[in-house]
Amino acid sequence: MSEALAAAARAEPSPRRAPDPFDLDLDAAYREWRDRKLSEAPADLSGLRVRVGDPRALTAAEHAALADRCRRANMALYESPLVDADKDIPRLLARQFGLTHLDRNWLADDDGISSVRVAEGGGRGDFIPYTDKPIRWHTDGYYNPPARRIRAMVLHCVRSAPEGGENALLDHEIAYLMLRDADPALVRALMQPDAMTIPARAEGGGIVRPAESGPVFDVDPGTGALHMRYTARTRSVEWKDDPAVRAAAAFLERLLAGPSPHIHRVTLRPGMGLLCNNVLHDRAGFADDPAHPRLIYRARYHDRIPTGGG
Ligand SMILES: [Fe+2]
Repeated sequence: MSEALAAAARAEPSPRRAPDPFDLDLDAAYREWRDRKLSEAPADLSGLRVRVGDPRALTAAEHAALADRCRRANMALYESPLVDADKDIPRLLARQFGLTHLDRNWLADDDGISSVRVAEGGGRGDFIPYTDKPIRWHTDGYYNPPARRIRAMVLHCVRSAPEGGENALLDHEIAYLMLRDADPALVRALMQPDAMTIPARAEGGGIVRPAESGPVFDVDPGTGALHMRYTARTRSVEWKDDPAVRAAAAFLERLLAGPSPHIHRVTLRPGMGLLCNNVLHDRAGFADDPAHPRLIYRARYHDRIPTGGG
């Protein structure tokens, strides 16, 4: 074999992947993916729910049912009878879906799983998740640097509030689909590497987090999976000064305001949880019972739940 042939053989791309449906130049691949996505999307919340006996040790059938929801909708809701305050529930559930690399931040408990509840003082009360206030639509970790990208997460409910605390959920692939159907230029605008900037966060005269610029949508080169980085906050976010970006952000805002058959609303009850590939979500405000405060364990991962490509 000549040197040139040997080099070509070495450069041969490894196993062929299906054409990328998120490539704006590949319309046929997109159409095929789009039709399958819409035909398989759960029609309502019941299509996402799976009853399980013990999330820490799923049966093969329970695992398959949750994996199927994740493949179709990037999310699944499990309902279990386990109401203990046990972080092994989300941790061991996640591990069964290949999620092992927890994102650690300074607010998380030492083991990397956050106890999200109303907090007084101690720094956490400055952050909306640790209050009873509503949280606008977002994906988790939109302010993280690329190396700490949140690809999947588990929200596990230990205690719910007597009133409120509902989550709305939307598969980010559906958001992409709606934008691309309306106008591919909207998607192109949001794939720009400087589409959305989260300004630096200063505290006590110093910068505790540098500014993070990045795309809203991008495709993971390793897996071909679509990732979304988004917040509907109007403060602490700078959209690129570009008419197409502004139009796309406005489109997303209208889409998320609903109504849409693809937006699912659920109030997590004790023993229930959400397993997802960091889909779009919000949280309604709630009225807490101070004697039994709402408690959600949140585990964020750098890994992604496999969904079979695309
Ligand atoms: Fe969140």
